[in-house]
Amino acid sequence: MKDPGWWRQAAIYQIYPRSFSDRNGDGVGDLAGVLSRVDHIAALDVDAVWFSPFSPSALTDGGYDVDDYRDIDPLIGTLAEFDALVAALHEHEIKVIVDLVPNHSSDRHEWFRAALASAPGSRERDRYLFRGGTGENGELPPNDWQAMFGGPAWTRVTEADGTPGQWYLHLFSTHQPDWNWANQEVRDDFLITLRFWGDRGVDGFRVDVAMGLAKDMSEPYPPWEQVGGFLFLALGADNPFGDGKHPLVDRDELTEIYAGWRQVFDGYDPPLFAVAEAWVEPHRRGRYANSKSLGQAFNFDLLYAQWDAATFRGVIQRNVDLASEHDTTSTWVLSNHDVVRHASRFAPPPDEPAEPGTTGDDSAGRALLGRGLARAEAAIMLALALPGSTYMYQGEELGLPEVTGIPAGKVQDPWAVVENGVMIAGRDGCRVPLPWTAGGVSFGFSAADAHLPQPDWFGSYSVETQVGDPSSTLCLYREALALRRTLQSEELLEWLELGPGVVAFRRPNGWISVTNFDADPVALPPGRVVLRSDRRDANEPLAAEATAWVLHSPGEAE
Ligand code: GLC
Repeated sequence: MKDPGWWRQAAIYQIYPRSFSDRNGDGVGDLAGVLSRVDHIAALDVDAVWFSPFSPSALTDGGYDVDDYRDIDPLIGTLAEFDALVAALHEHEIKVIVDLVPNHSSDRHEWFRAALASAPGSRERDRYLFRGGTGENGELPPNDWQAMFGGPAWTRVTEADGTPGQWYLHLFSTHQPDWNWANQEVRDDFLITLRFWGDRGVDGFRVDVAMGLAKDMSEPYPPWEQVGGFLFLALGADNPFGDGKHPLVDRDELTEIYAGWRQVFDGYDPPLFAVAEAWVEPHRRGRYANSKSLGQAFNFDLLYAQWDAATFRGVIQRNVDLASEHDTTSTWVLSNHDVVRHASRFAPPPDEPAEPGTTGDDSAGRALLGRGLARAEAAIMLALALPGSTYMYQGEELGLPEVTGIPAGKVQDPWAVVENGVMIAGRDGCRVPLPWTAGGVSFGFSAADAHLPQPDWFGSYSVETQVGDPSSTLCLYREALALRRTLQSEELLEWLELGPGVVAFRRPNGWISVTNFDADPVALPPGRVVLRSDRRDANEPLAAEATAWVLHSPGEAE
Protein backbone atom coordinates (compact mmCIF):
# COMPACT_ATOMS: atom_id res chain seq x y z
CA MET A 1 0.00 0.00 0.00
CA LYS A 2 1.23 3.48 -0.75
CA ASP A 3 1.84 5.39 2.45
CA PRO A 4 0.09 8.78 2.35
CA GLY A 5 1.98 9.86 5.47
CA TRP A 6 5.52 9.13 4.25
CA TRP A 7 6.55 12.75 4.93
CA ARG A 8 5.36 12.92 8.52
CA GLN A 9 8.58 11.68 10.12
CA ALA A 10 10.92 11.99 7.16
CA ALA A 11 14.60 12.84 6.76
CA ILE A 12 14.85 15.15 3.77
CA TYR A 13 18.03 16.20 1.97
CA GLN A 14 18.12 19.50 0.10
CA ILE A 15 20.08 19.69 -3.14
CA TYR A 16 21.05 23.03 -4.61
CA PRO A 17 21.53 21.63 -8.13
CA ARG A 18 24.02 24.18 -9.43
CA SER A 19 26.43 23.36 -6.63
CA PHE A 20 26.02 19.62 -6.09
CA SER A 21 27.89 17.85 -8.90
CA ASP A 22 28.72 18.77 -12.50
CA ARG A 23 28.94 16.19 -15.26
CA ASN A 24 29.20 18.25 -18.44
CA GLY A 25 32.28 20.15 -17.31
CA ASP A 26 30.98 23.71 -17.42
CA GLY A 27 31.54 24.37 -13.72
CA VAL A 28 27.80 24.45 -12.95
CA GLY A 29 26.13 21.46 -11.30
CA ASP A 30 23.57 19.55 -13.33
CA LEU A 31 21.02 16.74 -13.18
CA ALA A 32 23.45 14.27 -14.73
CA GLY A 33 25.79 15.17 -11.88
CA VAL A 34 23.10 14.39 -9.32
CA LEU A 35 22.34 11.12 -11.10
CA SER A 36 26.02 10.17 -10.86
CA ARG A 37 25.85 10.71 -7.10
CA VAL A 38 22.64 8.90 -6.29
CA ASP A 39 24.72 6.37 -4.35
CA HIS A 40 25.89 9.11 -2.00
CA ILE A 41 22.29 10.14 -1.36
CA ALA A 42 21.16 6.55 -0.93
CA ALA A 43 24.01 5.84 1.50
CA LEU A 44 22.74 8.71 3.63
CA ASP A 45 19.50 6.78 3.97
CA VAL A 46 17.22 9.79 3.58
CA ASP A 47 13.53 9.51 2.77
CA ALA A 48 13.38 12.32 0.25
CA VAL A 49 15.37 14.82 -1.73
CA TRP A 50 14.23 18.41 -2.19
CA PHE A 51 15.64 20.13 -5.26
CA SER A 52 16.09 23.90 -5.20
CA PRO A 53 14.92 25.38 -8.54
CA PHE A 54 16.30 23.95 -11.76
CA SER A 55 14.00 25.69 -14.22
CA PRO A 56 15.26 28.07 -16.92
CA SER A 57 16.50 31.20 -15.23
CA ALA A 58 18.88 34.11 -15.72
CA LEU A 59 20.09 33.33 -12.18
CA THR A 60 19.61 36.81 -10.83
CA ASP A 61 18.47 35.07 -7.63
CA GLY A 62 20.03 31.62 -7.75
CA GLY A 63 17.17 30.16 -9.83
CA TYR A 64 14.37 31.66 -7.70
CA ASP A 65 13.72 33.84 -10.75
CA VAL A 66 11.89 31.38 -12.98
CA ASP A 67 11.48 31.90 -16.73
CA ASP A 68 9.41 28.80 -17.37
CA TYR A 69 7.90 26.70 -14.59
CA ARG A 70 7.51 23.62 -16.75
CA ASP A 71 11.00 23.11 -18.11
CA ILE A 72 14.61 22.52 -17.06
CA ASP A 73 17.39 25.04 -17.55
CA PRO A 74 19.60 23.80 -20.42
CA LEU A 75 22.65 24.45 -18.21
CA ILE A 76 21.23 21.91 -15.77
CA GLY A 77 19.77 19.28 -18.05
CA THR A 78 16.65 18.13 -19.84
CA LEU A 79 13.24 16.82 -18.87
CA ALA A 80 14.37 13.35 -20.00
CA GLU A 81 17.29 13.56 -17.56
CA PHE A 82 14.93 14.70 -14.85
CA ASP A 83 12.72 11.66 -15.49
CA ALA A 84 15.75 9.38 -15.30
CA LEU A 85 16.80 10.97 -12.01
CA VAL A 86 13.35 10.60 -10.50
CA ALA A 87 13.32 6.95 -11.56
CA ALA A 88 16.77 6.36 -10.03
CA LEU A 89 15.81 7.99 -6.75
CA HIS A 90 12.51 6.13 -6.62
CA GLU A 91 14.38 2.90 -7.18
CA HIS A 92 16.15 3.63 -3.91
CA GLU A 93 12.79 4.50 -2.31
CA ILE A 94 13.77 8.14 -2.10
CA LYS A 95 10.93 10.60 -2.76
CA VAL A 96 11.38 13.72 -4.87
CA ILE A 97 10.30 17.20 -3.82
CA VAL A 98 10.67 20.13 -6.22
CA ASP A 99 10.77 23.84 -5.45
CA LEU A 100 7.83 25.90 -6.65
CA VAL A 101 8.19 29.68 -6.77
CA PRO A 102 4.66 31.11 -6.97
CA ASN A 103 5.11 34.60 -5.54
CA HIS A 104 7.01 35.94 -8.52
CA SER A 105 8.32 34.87 -11.91
CA SER A 106 11.38 36.25 -13.61
CA ASP A 107 11.18 39.23 -15.90
CA ARG A 108 12.00 36.85 -18.78
CA HIS A 109 8.83 34.80 -18.27
CA GLU A 110 6.67 34.65 -21.40
CA TRP A 111 3.73 36.25 -19.60
CA PHE A 112 5.83 39.09 -18.25
CA ARG A 113 7.17 39.80 -21.71
CA ALA A 114 3.59 39.73 -23.02
CA ALA A 115 2.62 42.15 -20.27
CA LEU A 116 5.35 44.57 -21.31
CA ALA A 117 4.27 44.36 -24.94
CA SER A 118 0.63 45.06 -24.05
CA ALA A 119 -1.12 48.23 -23.01
CA PRO A 120 -1.90 49.32 -19.46
CA GLY A 121 -5.21 47.82 -18.39
CA SER A 122 -4.83 44.82 -20.70
CA ARG A 123 -5.48 41.20 -19.76
CA GLU A 124 -1.71 40.57 -20.07
CA ARG A 125 -0.85 43.30 -17.57
CA ASP A 126 -3.41 42.04 -15.08
CA ARG A 127 -1.41 38.87 -14.44
CA TYR A 128 1.18 40.98 -12.62
CA LEU A 129 0.86 44.00 -10.34
CA PHE A 130 1.18 47.02 -12.60
CA ARG A 131 0.18 50.45 -11.31
CA GLY A 132 0.51 54.02 -12.50
CA GLY A 133 3.22 56.15 -10.91
CA THR A 134 2.77 59.24 -8.80
CA GLY A 135 4.24 62.68 -9.33
CA GLU A 136 3.32 65.00 -12.13
CA ASN A 137 4.12 62.55 -14.92
CA GLY A 138 4.04 59.27 -13.07
CA GLU A 139 7.77 59.51 -12.57
CA LEU A 140 7.59 58.45 -8.92
CA PRO A 141 6.69 54.93 -7.74
CA PRO A 142 3.10 54.27 -6.65
CA ASN A 143 4.20 54.12 -3.01
CA ASP A 144 7.28 53.88 -0.80
CA TRP A 145 7.41 50.09 -0.40
CA GLN A 146 10.86 48.54 -0.39
CA ALA A 147 12.20 45.36 -2.01
CA MET A 148 13.74 42.58 0.09
CA PHE A 149 17.01 42.86 -1.81
CA GLY A 150 17.12 46.64 -1.35
CA GLY A 151 15.77 49.66 -3.20
CA PRO A 152 12.18 50.40 -4.15
CA ALA A 153 9.75 47.50 -4.65
CA TRP A 154 8.64 49.12 -7.92
CA THR A 155 10.28 49.36 -11.32
CA ARG A 156 9.03 51.58 -14.12
CA VAL A 157 8.63 50.09 -17.57
CA THR A 158 8.95 51.57 -21.00
CA GLU A 159 5.71 51.18 -22.90
CA ALA A 160 5.64 49.54 -26.33
CA ASP A 161 5.60 53.00 -27.97
CA GLY A 162 8.82 53.96 -26.19
CA THR A 163 7.32 56.29 -23.59
CA PRO A 164 7.96 55.89 -19.86
CA GLY A 165 5.06 53.95 -18.48
CA GLN A 166 3.58 52.05 -15.54
CA TRP A 167 5.38 50.52 -12.60
CA TYR A 168 5.33 46.87 -11.51
CA LEU A 169 5.65 45.50 -8.00
CA HIS A 170 8.55 43.22 -7.07
CA LEU A 171 9.04 42.33 -3.45
CA PHE A 172 12.44 40.80 -4.28
CA SER A 173 14.70 42.02 -7.09
CA THR A 174 13.63 44.06 -10.08
CA HIS A 175 14.00 40.84 -12.13
CA GLN A 176 11.31 39.10 -10.03
CA PRO A 177 7.91 40.67 -10.79
CA ASP A 178 5.19 39.56 -8.37
CA TRP A 179 2.26 37.63 -9.77
CA ASN A 180 -1.27 38.93 -9.29
CA TRP A 181 -2.94 36.08 -7.42
CA ALA A 182 -6.32 37.77 -7.74
CA ASN A 183 -6.10 36.87 -11.42
CA GLN A 184 -7.81 33.62 -12.37
CA GLU A 185 -5.46 32.85 -15.26
CA VAL A 186 -2.51 32.96 -12.86
CA ARG A 187 -4.27 30.64 -10.44
CA ASP A 188 -5.19 28.20 -13.19
CA ASP A 189 -1.72 28.22 -14.65
CA PHE A 190 -0.16 27.20 -11.36
CA LEU A 191 -2.57 24.28 -11.13
CA ILE A 192 -1.28 23.19 -14.54
CA THR A 193 2.27 23.45 -13.21
CA LEU A 194 1.42 21.34 -10.16
CA ARG A 195 -0.07 18.64 -12.39
CA PHE A 196 2.85 18.87 -14.80
CA TRP A 197 5.30 17.81 -12.09
CA GLY A 198 2.83 15.48 -10.37
CA ASP A 199 2.34 13.63 -13.65
CA ARG A 200 6.11 13.37 -14.06
CA GLY A 201 6.23 11.45 -10.82
CA VAL A 202 7.38 13.99 -8.27
CA ASP A 203 6.12 13.38 -4.75
CA GLY A 204 5.77 16.93 -3.53
CA PHE A 205 6.67 20.60 -3.54
CA ARG A 206 8.55 23.05 -1.40
CA VAL A 207 6.56 26.26 -1.75
CA ASP A 208 8.72 29.37 -1.89
CA VAL A 209 7.50 32.50 -0.06
CA ALA A 210 4.21 30.69 0.62
CA MET A 211 2.97 33.54 2.80
CA GLY A 212 3.30 36.15 0.07
CA LEU A 213 1.01 35.31 -2.82
CA ALA A 214 -2.18 37.15 -1.85
CA LYS A 215 -1.96 40.94 -1.63
CA ASP A 216 -4.25 43.82 -0.88
CA MET A 217 -3.30 46.42 -3.45
CA SER A 218 -6.18 48.79 -2.76
CA GLU A 219 -5.52 52.46 -2.15
CA PRO A 220 -4.65 54.32 -0.06
CA TYR A 221 -1.49 52.25 0.33
CA PRO A 222 -0.23 52.01 3.88
CA PRO A 223 3.24 53.54 4.20
CA TRP A 224 6.29 51.26 4.34
CA GLU A 225 6.85 52.30 7.92
CA GLN A 226 3.70 50.33 8.77
CA VAL A 227 4.16 47.52 6.25
CA GLY A 228 7.93 47.12 6.53
CA GLY A 229 9.84 44.06 7.59
CA PHE A 230 6.99 42.00 6.24
CA LEU A 231 9.02 38.98 5.31
CA PHE A 232 11.44 37.92 7.95
CA LEU A 233 10.18 39.78 10.97
CA ALA A 234 7.43 38.42 13.13
CA LEU A 235 4.11 40.09 12.45
CA GLY A 236 2.50 39.25 15.77
CA ALA A 237 1.86 42.09 18.13
CA ASP A 238 3.78 44.44 15.84
CA ASN A 239 1.37 43.86 12.98
CA PRO A 240 -0.90 46.90 13.01
CA PHE A 241 -3.24 45.32 10.47
CA GLY A 242 -4.32 42.30 12.53
CA ASP A 243 -3.94 38.60 11.78
CA GLY A 244 -4.50 37.75 8.15
CA LYS A 245 -4.97 41.37 7.11
CA HIS A 246 -1.45 42.59 6.44
CA PRO A 247 -1.44 43.92 2.85
CA LEU A 248 1.51 41.80 1.67
CA VAL A 249 1.94 38.74 3.79
CA ASP A 250 0.03 35.91 5.45
CA ARG A 251 -3.36 37.06 4.21
CA ASP A 252 -6.43 34.96 4.90
CA GLU A 253 -7.16 34.49 1.15
CA LEU A 254 -4.20 32.10 0.99
CA THR A 255 -6.35 29.44 2.64
CA GLU A 256 -8.56 29.30 -0.41
CA ILE A 257 -5.62 29.22 -2.83
CA TYR A 258 -3.96 26.31 -1.05
CA ALA A 259 -7.28 24.47 -0.66
CA GLY A 260 -7.41 24.51 -4.46
CA TRP A 261 -3.90 23.05 -4.61
CA ARG A 262 -4.91 20.41 -2.10
CA GLN A 263 -7.61 19.21 -4.49
CA VAL A 264 -4.91 18.66 -7.11
CA PHE A 265 -2.64 16.96 -4.57
CA ASP A 266 -5.39 14.59 -3.48
CA GLY A 267 -5.89 13.43 -7.05
CA TYR A 268 -2.63 11.46 -6.75
CA ASP A 269 -1.94 8.23 -4.92
CA PRO A 270 -0.42 8.85 -2.49
CA PRO A 271 -1.46 12.52 -2.39
CA LEU A 272 1.27 14.96 -3.32
CA PHE A 273 2.96 16.59 -0.37
CA ALA A 274 3.96 20.20 0.13
CA VAL A 275 5.97 22.11 2.69
CA ALA A 276 5.54 25.85 3.02
CA GLU A 277 8.29 28.37 3.39
CA ALA A 278 6.10 30.56 5.55
CA TRP A 279 7.77 33.25 7.61
CA VAL A 280 4.77 33.92 9.82
CA GLU A 281 3.93 34.07 13.48
CA PRO A 282 4.07 30.55 14.92
CA HIS A 283 0.34 30.54 15.73
CA ARG A 284 -0.43 31.19 12.03
CA ARG A 285 1.85 28.46 10.69
CA GLY A 286 -0.89 25.86 10.96
CA ARG A 287 -2.88 27.62 8.26
CA TYR A 288 -0.22 26.46 5.78
CA ALA A 289 0.58 23.15 7.42
CA ASN A 290 -2.82 21.57 8.05
CA SER A 291 -4.09 18.66 5.99
CA LYS A 292 -6.54 20.81 4.01
CA SER A 293 -3.70 23.10 3.02
CA LEU A 294 -0.10 22.31 2.04
CA GLY A 295 0.60 19.63 4.67
CA GLN A 296 3.69 20.91 6.46
CA ALA A 297 5.46 24.22 7.09
CA PHE A 298 9.06 24.96 7.93
CA ASN A 299 9.90 25.99 11.44
CA PHE A 300 12.99 28.15 11.20
CA ASP A 301 13.46 28.72 14.93
CA LEU A 302 16.68 26.69 15.09
CA LEU A 303 18.23 28.96 12.45
CA TYR A 304 18.11 31.73 15.02
CA ALA A 305 18.66 29.75 18.20
CA GLN A 306 21.77 30.44 20.21
CA TRP A 307 23.74 27.43 21.44
CA ASP A 308 21.86 27.21 24.68
CA ALA A 309 19.93 24.38 26.33
CA ALA A 310 16.95 26.44 27.51
CA THR A 311 16.54 28.02 24.07
CA PHE A 312 16.60 24.68 22.29
CA ARG A 313 14.19 23.12 24.74
CA GLY A 314 11.78 26.03 24.39
CA VAL A 315 11.87 25.84 20.60
CA ILE A 316 11.26 22.09 20.64
CA GLN A 317 8.35 22.20 23.06
CA ARG A 318 6.63 25.05 21.24
CA ASN A 319 6.93 23.42 17.86
CA VAL A 320 5.85 19.96 18.90
CA ASP A 321 2.79 21.55 20.57
CA LEU A 322 2.00 23.65 17.51
CA ALA A 323 2.24 20.68 15.18
CA SER A 324 -0.21 18.65 17.21
CA GLU A 325 -2.62 21.58 17.44
CA HIS A 326 -2.49 21.99 13.69
CA ASP A 327 -2.90 18.45 12.50
CA THR A 328 0.61 18.16 11.04
CA THR A 329 4.09 17.11 12.20
CA SER A 330 6.93 19.34 13.32
CA THR A 331 9.88 20.29 11.12
CA TRP A 332 13.51 20.95 12.01
CA VAL A 333 15.99 22.95 9.94
CA LEU A 334 19.57 23.77 10.91
CA SER A 335 20.88 24.83 7.50
CA ASN A 336 19.59 25.68 4.04
CA HIS A 337 20.64 27.67 0.98
CA ASP A 338 19.70 30.98 2.61
CA VAL A 339 21.64 30.94 5.86
CA VAL A 340 25.18 30.66 7.22
CA ARG A 341 26.04 26.97 7.59
CA HIS A 342 25.41 25.81 11.12
CA ALA A 343 28.97 24.53 11.74
CA SER A 344 30.01 28.18 11.44
CA ARG A 345 26.91 29.66 13.02
CA PHE A 346 27.39 27.65 16.19
CA ALA A 347 31.16 28.29 16.37
CA PRO A 348 31.84 30.37 19.47
CA PRO A 349 33.24 33.85 18.89
CA PRO A 350 37.03 33.83 18.40
CA ASP A 351 37.65 35.44 21.80
CA GLU A 352 36.11 32.47 23.64
CA PRO A 353 38.62 29.90 24.95
CA ALA A 354 39.33 27.12 22.50
CA GLU A 355 38.47 24.40 25.03
CA PRO A 356 36.63 22.08 24.71
CA GLY A 357 37.60 21.09 21.21
CA THR A 358 40.34 23.05 19.55
CA THR A 359 39.98 26.39 17.84
CA GLY A 360 37.10 28.08 16.06
CA ASP A 361 39.35 29.00 13.15
CA ASP A 362 38.02 27.13 10.13
CA SER A 363 40.55 28.50 7.67
CA ALA A 364 43.03 25.78 8.55
CA GLY A 365 40.59 23.03 7.67
CA ARG A 366 38.68 20.24 9.20
CA ALA A 367 41.03 19.20 11.97
CA LEU A 368 40.90 22.65 13.50
CA LEU A 369 37.26 23.52 13.11
CA GLY A 370 36.64 22.38 16.64
CA ARG A 371 33.68 23.61 18.59
CA GLY A 372 31.51 24.80 15.73
CA LEU A 373 31.63 21.35 14.18
CA ALA A 374 31.18 19.58 17.53
CA ARG A 375 28.06 21.65 18.18
CA ALA A 376 26.81 21.14 14.63
CA GLU A 377 27.09 17.36 15.01
CA ALA A 378 25.43 17.46 18.42
CA ALA A 379 22.62 19.61 17.00
CA ILE A 380 21.86 17.36 14.04
CA MET A 381 21.75 14.27 16.26
CA LEU A 382 19.34 16.13 18.51
CA ALA A 383 17.18 17.21 15.54
CA LEU A 384 17.15 13.72 14.05
CA ALA A 385 15.95 12.26 17.35
CA LEU A 386 12.96 14.59 17.51
CA PRO A 387 9.52 13.68 16.26
CA GLY A 388 8.71 15.18 12.85
CA SER A 389 10.73 15.80 9.72
CA THR A 390 14.33 16.96 9.60
CA TYR A 391 15.49 18.92 6.56
CA MET A 392 19.22 18.77 5.88
CA TYR A 393 21.18 20.85 3.40
CA GLN A 394 23.81 19.42 1.05
CA GLY A 395 27.29 19.58 2.55
CA GLU A 396 26.21 19.58 6.17
CA GLU A 397 26.81 15.83 6.17
CA LEU A 398 30.47 16.76 5.53
CA GLY A 399 30.49 19.29 8.37
CA LEU A 400 31.20 22.05 5.86
CA PRO A 401 31.67 25.48 7.37
CA GLU A 402 30.58 28.66 5.62
CA VAL A 403 33.02 29.84 2.96
CA THR A 404 34.11 33.39 3.65
CA GLY A 405 36.01 35.97 1.67
CA ILE A 406 34.45 35.32 -1.75
CA PRO A 407 36.01 37.91 -4.10
CA ALA A 408 33.64 40.67 -5.25
CA GLY A 409 33.96 39.66 -8.89
CA LYS A 410 32.64 36.15 -8.14
CA VAL A 411 29.68 37.13 -5.98
CA GLN A 412 26.28 35.98 -7.32
CA ASP A 413 23.80 36.66 -4.54
CA PRO A 414 21.67 39.81 -5.07
CA TRP A 415 21.57 40.14 -1.29
CA ALA A 416 25.35 40.07 -0.80
CA VAL A 417 27.19 42.86 0.94
CA VAL A 418 30.64 43.50 -0.47
CA GLU A 419 33.34 45.48 1.31
CA ASN A 420 37.00 45.98 0.39
CA GLY A 421 36.73 43.62 -2.54
CA VAL A 422 35.17 40.65 -0.70
CA MET A 423 31.72 39.47 0.29
CA ILE A 424 31.18 40.07 3.99
CA ALA A 425 27.54 38.95 4.13
CA GLY A 426 25.34 37.02 1.75
CA ARG A 427 24.24 33.56 0.75
CA ASP A 428 27.02 32.46 -1.60
CA GLY A 429 29.14 31.17 1.29
CA CYS A 430 26.77 28.22 1.82
CA ARG A 431 26.32 27.63 -1.93
CA VAL A 432 29.92 26.87 -2.85
CA PRO A 433 30.05 23.58 -4.82
CA LEU A 434 30.66 20.42 -2.80
CA PRO A 435 34.10 18.81 -2.49
CA TRP A 436 33.92 15.18 -3.61
CA THR A 437 37.64 14.41 -3.76
CA ALA A 438 40.58 15.49 -1.61
CA GLY A 439 42.30 17.21 -4.52
CA GLY A 440 42.06 17.80 -8.26
CA VAL A 441 40.16 20.37 -10.29
CA SER A 442 37.31 21.74 -8.16
CA PHE A 443 37.73 18.80 -5.75
CA GLY A 444 35.84 16.43 -8.00
CA PHE A 445 32.83 18.70 -8.43
CA SER A 446 33.51 19.36 -12.11
CA ALA A 447 36.16 19.03 -14.78
CA ALA A 448 36.29 22.84 -14.71
CA ASP A 449 36.64 25.42 -11.96
CA ALA A 450 33.50 25.65 -9.86
CA HIS A 451 31.14 28.56 -10.54
CA LEU A 452 31.75 29.84 -7.01
CA PRO A 453 35.38 29.57 -5.86
CA GLN A 454 36.21 26.77 -3.41
CA PRO A 455 38.85 27.51 -0.76
CA ASP A 456 42.09 25.50 -0.69
CA TRP A 457 41.08 23.68 2.48
CA PHE A 458 37.87 22.34 0.95
CA GLY A 459 39.44 19.00 0.07
CA SER A 460 39.88 18.14 3.74
CA TYR A 461 36.07 18.01 4.01
CA SER A 462 35.59 15.92 0.87
CA VAL A 463 33.51 12.80 0.63
CA GLU A 464 36.64 10.92 -0.41
CA THR A 465 38.48 12.02 2.74
CA GLN A 466 35.65 11.12 5.07
CA VAL A 467 34.07 8.03 3.64
CA GLY A 468 36.64 5.55 4.96
CA ASP A 469 37.07 7.30 8.31
CA PRO A 470 34.61 5.96 10.89
CA SER A 471 35.14 9.04 13.05
CA SER A 472 34.15 11.46 10.26
CA THR A 473 31.09 13.67 10.17
CA LEU A 474 29.87 11.82 7.08
CA CYS A 475 29.96 8.48 8.88
CA LEU A 476 28.18 10.01 11.87
CA TYR A 477 25.37 11.25 9.58
CA ARG A 478 25.09 7.89 7.90
CA GLU A 479 24.94 6.01 11.18
CA ALA A 480 22.50 8.46 12.71
CA LEU A 481 20.17 8.32 9.70
CA ALA A 482 20.30 4.53 9.50
CA LEU A 483 19.49 4.22 13.21
CA ARG A 484 16.76 6.82 12.91
CA ARG A 485 15.09 4.76 10.22
CA THR A 486 14.68 1.91 12.68
CA LEU A 487 13.77 4.12 15.66
CA GLN A 488 11.64 7.01 14.40
CA SER A 489 8.08 6.75 15.58
CA GLU A 490 5.06 8.82 16.46
CA GLU A 491 4.98 12.51 17.32
CA LEU A 492 5.66 12.18 21.05
CA LEU A 493 8.42 12.98 23.48
CA GLU A 494 8.89 13.06 27.21
CA TRP A 495 11.51 15.33 28.79
CA LEU A 496 14.22 13.92 31.06
CA GLU A 497 15.64 16.28 33.65
CA LEU A 498 19.43 15.83 33.60
CA GLY A 499 20.45 19.37 34.53
CA PRO A 500 19.96 22.91 33.23
CA GLY A 501 22.64 22.63 30.55
CA VAL A 502 21.28 19.38 29.12
CA VAL A 503 18.45 18.74 26.68
CA ALA A 504 17.32 15.15 27.09
CA PHE A 505 14.13 13.40 26.03
CA ARG A 506 12.71 9.95 25.61
CA ARG A 507 10.55 8.76 22.73
CA PRO A 508 7.77 6.26 23.49
CA ASN A 509 9.87 3.33 22.19
CA GLY A 510 12.65 4.00 24.71
CA TRP A 511 14.90 6.00 22.35
CA ILE A 512 16.66 8.61 24.49
CA SER A 513 18.61 11.56 23.15
CA VAL A 514 20.89 13.55 25.45
CA THR A 515 22.61 16.77 24.34
CA ASN A 516 25.17 18.38 26.61
CA PHE A 517 25.30 22.15 26.03
CA ASP A 518 27.54 22.62 29.07
CA ALA A 519 31.31 22.65 29.46
CA ASP A 520 31.41 19.71 31.90
CA PRO A 521 30.76 16.07 31.00
CA VAL A 522 27.42 14.60 32.12
CA ALA A 523 26.53 11.05 33.11
CA LEU A 524 24.29 9.28 30.62
CA PRO A 525 21.03 7.68 31.74
CA PRO A 526 20.84 3.87 31.97
CA GLY A 527 20.49 1.94 28.74
CA ARG A 528 22.49 0.90 25.70
CA VAL A 529 24.44 3.75 24.07
CA VAL A 530 23.99 3.32 20.31
CA LEU A 531 25.59 6.49 18.96
CA ARG A 532 27.48 9.44 20.33
CA SER A 533 28.92 12.49 18.60
CA ASP A 534 31.87 12.81 21.00
CA ARG A 535 33.29 9.45 19.77
CA ARG A 536 34.03 8.38 23.34
CA ASP A 537 33.63 4.82 24.52
CA ALA A 538 30.09 3.65 25.13
CA ASN A 539 29.85 4.04 28.88
CA GLU A 540 31.90 7.17 29.44
CA PRO A 541 30.15 10.38 30.50
CA LEU A 542 28.95 12.55 27.61
CA ALA A 543 31.52 15.18 26.68
CA ALA A 544 30.71 18.88 26.43
CA GLU A 545 28.88 19.97 23.28
CA ALA A 546 27.87 16.48 22.22
CA THR A 547 24.80 14.29 21.81
CA ALA A 548 24.35 10.61 22.62
CA TRP A 549 21.52 8.26 21.80
CA VAL A 550 20.65 5.62 24.38
CA LEU A 551 18.12 2.82 24.06
CA HIS A 552 16.20 1.96 27.16
CA SER A 553 13.03 -0.02 26.70
CA PRO A 554 10.08 1.09 28.80
CA GLY A 555 9.83 -1.16 31.81
CA GLU A 556 13.47 -2.25 31.60
CA ALA A 557 15.33 -2.10 34.92
CA GLU A 558 17.02 1.23 35.63
C1 GLC B 1 13.02 32.26 -0.64
C2 GLC B 1 14.22 31.47 -1.11
C3 GLC B 1 15.33 32.42 -1.39
C4 GLC B 1 14.89 33.39 -2.46
C5 GLC B 1 13.57 34.07 -2.09
C6 GLC B 1 12.94 34.73 -3.28
O1 GLC B 1 13.23 32.88 0.58
O2 GLC B 1 14.56 30.50 -0.18
O3 GLC B 1 16.50 31.77 -1.78
O4 GLC B 1 15.86 34.37 -2.66
O5 GLC B 1 12.63 33.16 -1.62
O6 GLC B 1 12.43 33.79 -4.16
